[in-house]
Amino acid sequence: MNITVIGTGYVGLVTGACFAEMGNSVVCIDVDPDKVERLQQGHIPIYEPGLDAIVTNNSKAGRLRFSTDLAAAMQQSALYFIAVGTPPDEDGSADLSHVLQVAGQIGQHLSRDAIVVNKSTAPVGTADKVAHVIRQQLQTRGVTDVHFDVVSNPEFLKEGAAIDDFMRPDRIVIGVESNHARQVMAELYQTFSRNHDKVMFMGVRDAELTKYAANAMLATKISFMNEMANLAERMGVDIEQVRKGIGSDSRIGYSFIYPGCGYGGSCFPKDVQALVRMGAEYDYNTSVLNAVEQRNQSQKQRLFEKLQQRFPDLAGKVIAVWGLAFKPGTDDMREASSITLINALAEAGARIQAYDPVAMDEAKKHFPASWFDDGTIRLCAHQYDALENADAMVLVTEWKPFRQPDFNAIGKLLKQPIIIDGRNQYDPHSLKQQGFDYTGIGRDIA
Ligand code: UDX
Repeated sequence: MNITVIGTGYVGLVTGACFAEMGNSVVCIDVDPDKVERLQQGHIPIYEPGLDAIVTNNSKAGRLRFSTDLAAAMQQSALYFIAVGTPPDEDGSADLSHVLQVAGQIGQHLSRDAIVVNKSTAPVGTADKVAHVIRQQLQTRGVTDVHFDVVSNPEFLKEGAAIDDFMRPDRIVIGVESNHARQVMAELYQTFSRNHDKVMFMGVRDAELTKYAANAMLATKISFMNEMANLAERMGVDIEQVRKGIGSDSRIGYSFIYPGCGYGGSCFPKDVQALVRMGAEYDYNTSVLNAVEQRNQSQKQRLFEKLQQRFPDLAGKVIAVWGLAFKPGTDDMREASSITLINALAEAGARIQAYDPVAMDEAKKHFPASWFDDGTIRLCAHQYDALENADAMVLVTEWKPFRQPDFNAIGKLLKQPIIIDGRNQYDPHSLKQQGFDYTGIGRDIA
């Protein structure tokens, strides 16, 4: 099939590359000419395992192209994917301006029957708004003989596993109203759904809410577990035992019940807030989601609070931070717990020695340049360099090289043998035996 993907951000690029990989001919459109040029030269703006090779191979094969010319791309295809950002507005609701702008451009250039697929995470009712904007443009142009469908096809990919998630999805949610759109989408996705039927057709608004509900449910599981962990700390209970004990119940399951220092990333925080706003618009108080959000905000403070318990005055203290990305496998630091921790430490006058396997460049964008100049933060070349003369070490992101470190070396490098483990990676008993003052999340056991 000939496909146009509008937006070369995370979702757009992965979508375009994976459709091309399956033999389709894809043009990815972006308004930023520099970005398009860099993509044409094979420079991928995001860190995502496997994406590089797929983009390069399919570009070489001529199946994947990058352009700023939407009108030209639309001449070549009748299937347009909208994959532009829906950043939070000041009040937390999703900002639809990019999506509707693209809808307007589609309306300006539409000259054949087509299917417009929204892949951006956008509130219930967005497809209707997209259709309305396109219709308005067609009317302005006096075009009456062109038919189009607007489909909702939300994306569930995880950063760091995006290619796999796209190629081997749990499910493919497609909100459609017409039989024609349903047939085209079924044909497009059949190759991703060979052995088991992964495609789920539903109404457009059903699909729109499905995306938010999925993320909100996962965020709820995490916040719930964080609440249990905080309770466990007070009760002298080991949350790890509780996690295993409840995860074995197939109705609960083991996934997304790892307590920690809070969830981050580009989706959970934004989508939970957007759903809360949607609730308000429909005059409904989303009390569960409000609590999920609140718990997460507080949970991000836990690492700092644990340091404060050990150092009532943090001024002049040196704190080693292992991990800056919001989770392993990505350089993305959006809403990362490391930011909350580092900001609080800097505010308290501490100095930070940080290391992350891939997010070091990204880190420079998230803190004031002066902090790097005056030594508030030092980005270290190696994970063990970050520990030198530090008063404590904090694990924020559970990258693999942090999971089984050399505790002998850690003990020697740290000024004080304090380990705060924000992701429950280490065994409290063994670390205590080795002489560490260790605390995890929900594991303050004697
Ligand atoms: C998420 C959804 O998983 C994905 O389906 C959706 O399309 C986008 O949002 P992503 O943000 O890439 O994906 O990361 P994910 O792996 O879901 O982790 C999100 C956050 O939750 C991370 O900060 C992670 O550390 C945290 N987390 C996850 C926990 O604290 N505990 C857990 O048990 C699982």
